[in-house]
Amino acid sequence: MSTLYRGGSFTTWGDEPVTALVVQDGRVVHHGEAATDEVVELAGRAVVPGFVDSHTHLVFGGDRTEEFEARLSGSPYAAGGIRSTVAATRETDDDSLLRRALHLAAEARRSGTTTLETKSGYGLTVRDERRSLRVARLVTPHTTFLGAHVPDEPGYVDLVAGEMLEACAPLATAIDAFCETGAFDVDECRTVLLAGQAAGLDVHVHANQLGPGPGVQLAAELGALSADHCTHLSDGDVAALRDAEVVATLVPVAEFSTRSPYAPARRLLDAGVTVALATDCNPGTSFTTSMPFVIALACRELGMSPLEAVFAATAGGAAALGLEDVGHLNVGARADFVVLEAPSPTWLAYRPGVDLVHRVVKDGA
Ligand code: NIG
Ligand code: FE
Repeated sequence: MSTLYRGGSFTTWGDEPVTALVVQDGRVVHHGEAATDEVVELAGRAVVPGFVDSHTHLVFGGDRTEEFEARLSGSPYAAGGIRSTVAATRETDDDSLLRRALHLAAEARRSGTTTLETKSGYGLTVRDERRSLRVARLVTPHTTFLGAHVPDEPGYVDLVAGEMLEACAPLATAIDAFCETGAFDVDECRTVLLAGQAAGLDVHVHANQLGPGPGVQLAAELGALSADHCTHLSDGDVAALRDAEVVATLVPVAEFSTRSPYAPARRLLDAGVTVALATDCNPGTSFTTSMPFVIALACRELGMSPLEAVFAATAGGAAALGLEDVGHLNVGARADFVVLEAPSPTWLAYRPGVDLVHRVVKDGA
């Protein structure tokens, strides 16, 4: 079965303008007109690659409505709030965790996300981290072990880097650690991340979110795929990301929801760092699955142009996950794309909060 999509305004991230594309067996097989089994007329609508949300925490119990309300009346966000979700997650059975995570993933798909990563990190025992990742694997193939989210019992780092990693590594493609005051220091994060790397996992770091710190430099030292958050960066941090080719994954809804300063996207882009945009969907700091909202915020608050933001939400996310066949629509790519009820991708920022998704195509379907 082959399908010709034509009459749209295509953003592919290729060098040549594209006026039509052909999809077959879940891939983009040709740019331009061709004889196919089926023709879809796009009537001038914009087409962009499916969004790649490279940073989410979808496996959790409970919610944090009251903490959010308290923040709106002035309470600051601190890493310790994570513990209330840990308690709720431990009390939630696997089926309920899965139902919630699938619901959020379906919500993400409706808003144009065709690839997503998700993490453990609200279990923090061998049993609860392992079952969190078992649930995560039923949602997406891109799963990250975040046992080093907040410290639990004494000796916790050794547990994470030892028995917990051993139990979780077969269910994960990557490892992450929260390098922050109130979470783990740089030596603890290095211990955990090196152990994960030795087990064959890709590395991400929750870095420089709540204040300046060593997380970004650690990501560069370890050759991580991404440093995530990057809210508080020195010039040396920006240079380290550029020189080590670590993707800076920015999650502006976390700043929106915690009423914090936004990440310095302009400094990163102007220095030549690859930037990804992600939702960071989680019940504490960023309870959204909407990449269109992230894009709108990135344009308004981070100083990104609409095309820079859409690139970061697609090709940037793919780079953060080490994936080559998503995030663009060149020949050979997965046929993952979003048809917008809009003449250009700029409308994602120009019409904030409006559902502009006309159709989501994933693996050609
Ligand atoms: O990415 N920074 C650490 N982890 C999450 C927040 C977790 C929570 O508050 O539940 C984040 O923002
Ligand atoms: Fe996060």
